[in-house]
Amino acid sequence: MKKSTTPSPGKFISLEGCEGCGKSTQASLLKSALEAQGLTVVMTREPGGTPTGEMIRDLLQHHASGEEITPIAEVMLFAASRAQHVHNVIRPALAQGQWVICDRFVDSSLAYQAGGRELGLEKVLAVNEVALDGCWPDCTLWFDLPVTVSSARVAERGVAPDRFESEALSFHQRVVDTYEKLYQRFPERMVRVDAELSIAEVEQAVRDHLQHTLGVSL
Ligand code: TYD
Repeated sequence: MKKSTTPSPGKFISLEGCEGCGKSTQASLLKSALEAQGLTVVMTREPGGTPTGEMIRDLLQHHASGEEITPIAEVMLFAASRAQHVHNVIRPALAQGQWVICDRFVDSSLAYQAGGRELGLEKVLAVNEVALDGCWPDCTLWFDLPVTVSSARVAERGVAPDRFESEALSFHQRVVDTYEKLYQRFPERMVRVDAELSIAEVEQAVRDHLQHTLGVSL
């Protein structure tokens, strides 16, 4: 195992993309690669990442009260989970020089709620700026996958779909289109990874991107 002699400051990497884009698999591979460099890595996810966040996750994904959650209430629930996560997990880890890998973060709200739910970017961004309090990722890996491939991968899993997976194809198309818009809007932070490639090819692309953007050799 290669140990780095000078500890790097902590970096915050988020992974984003539509359902079935392979980001969770890549998050685990990336964690191992960073740890092999002697870095301490915190792997976390959204919604969730804290006990309160996990309760909000359950509410959002398997909502069973019979009452519909309004789109703006949905934005705020995700943002509440995020504020808790930033304050209790992400910021403290970064302050200790640890690296944070987060499976979904603010761009999921921008893609799913602003795009999918058609709330518009500015409104969702405003709510999230309060939740983030300046804690933006250093690098966001966007795993780009066409909606048709995404739906086929989700269907192959054969598990019961949650509230988001059950949405119409047009919703998921808006999600993917919004990721593309975000990629254009935040070019210094976001990198695009072709998620149609094999797991090993995607893994290599992630390593190359991180070397380029964060200067970490993996
Ligand atoms: P999850 O099971 O984590 O899905 P995935 O494996 O695709 O990451 O479910 C999270 C769902 O919540 C996913 O469909 C995207 C959605 N979501 C939002 O709509 N807004 C958000 O801000 C976040 C974090 C997730």
